[in-house]
Amino acid sequence: MRHLCLLVLLAASLAAADPIYVTAFRDPCRAIEVHRLVLANEPVVPLTVVVGGVERQVPAVSVALPRTDWVVHRALVDGLAPATEVTLRFPGTTERVRTLPADLARPLRIATGGDTMHKPEWLAATAKALSARDPDFVVLGGDLAYEDGKNGARVVTWIQTWVASARAPDGRLLPFVSCIGNHEVQGSYGGDITKAPYFYAMLPLGGSATHAIDIGDEVSVILLDSAHTTPIPGPQTAWLAEQLSKRAKRPSIIPIYHYPAWPTVKVSKGEKDPTGNRVSKLIREHWVPLFEAAGVRVVLENDQHTYKRTVPLKGGQPDPGGITYLGDGAWGVDVRRIFPGLTWLAKGAEVRHGYILDIHAGGRIAVTAVDETGKDFDSVDIPAR
Ligand SMILES: [Fe+2]
Repeated sequence: MRHLCLLVLLAASLAAADPIYVTAFRDPCRAIEVHRLVLANEPVVPLTVVVGGVERQVPAVSVALPRTDWVVHRALVDGLAPATEVTLRFPGTTERVRTLPADLARPLRIATGGDTMHKPEWLAATAKALSARDPDFVVLGGDLAYEDGKNGARVVTWIQTWVASARAPDGRLLPFVSCIGNHEVQGSYGGDITKAPYFYAMLPLGGSATHAIDIGDEVSVILLDSAHTTPIPGPQTAWLAEQLSKRAKRPSIIPIYHYPAWPTVKVSKGEKDPTGNRVSKLIREHWVPLFEAAGVRVVLENDQHTYKRTVPLKGGQPDPGGITYLGDGAWGVDVRRIFPGLTWLAKGAEVRHGYILDIHAGGRIAVTAVDETGKDFDSVDIPAR
């Protein structure tokens, strides 16, 4: 029996190999957050960071993953230079990562998508397809592990699968961020941080799912919460207005949230098409006018498990100067049938996929849709405003 226990423990530690994942919620050009998934009885040790042959130690803290045998050891690494290769070392594991460039001398490449893991092999397939394009950064749209705020084992599987598959062609880890989705939350909508214990533990969110992330002087990514743990009207909308006004001169501001303003599948009771959804209406009422006033040209949406590209929309109508909404969350999930006759849809497909956004100096964004096998199947060029 004792031998069997030892074997099981050994197998568990070998399978996990202490995966390290890297996020960048603060300043992806100069700061990263490094997380080591370990069994809860492992001592907390500092992270060793090596840049240009110079080593330093960064203290780690332990964060519980409730009702699992696992914890995350988290180290916040600051004071890095942009576009710099960094070696990360915890006992038994060495990884590399690269900070983001602070200028757009070459286009910044972001990979994005949401609704990532009905099945781990589907998470891995799209992660590999997008990673093969050598992105600088990954921006996820929520519904990562489908643990519903309850099933911690799925979060552990998500981390292990992500670390194994989201790697650039040179093997380095890809830094990522994510907004929150309904499957992170007990009850899906109208909750608070206590209803999403795993999401707020696995990511360094500081108690808020809303973040404005600046990448150099031209690009910002705005992570929003489509009513899962933060209401849409009120403080979140006020915060969004303030963040957008502070960034008025930036050519590329990219909001991302989970439930879409322009959904493609789900029809609420008593409504005639998907746009009648309560959350969608709130987003169109409170956020979209702010996006339009701020010169936003592309918005990332998720949740519906389809491929969606809208025509550019302004005030709810087609307008060449409007916003293109990209979605609709089908990285690693069963895809759904698109609701017929949506006049604002430029392209729809029932296919697992992610996007590559190449963000150029001055604001042009070249968008490529990549399916889970690595094939391009749609593209659009979004001009500067
Ligand atoms: Fe969802």
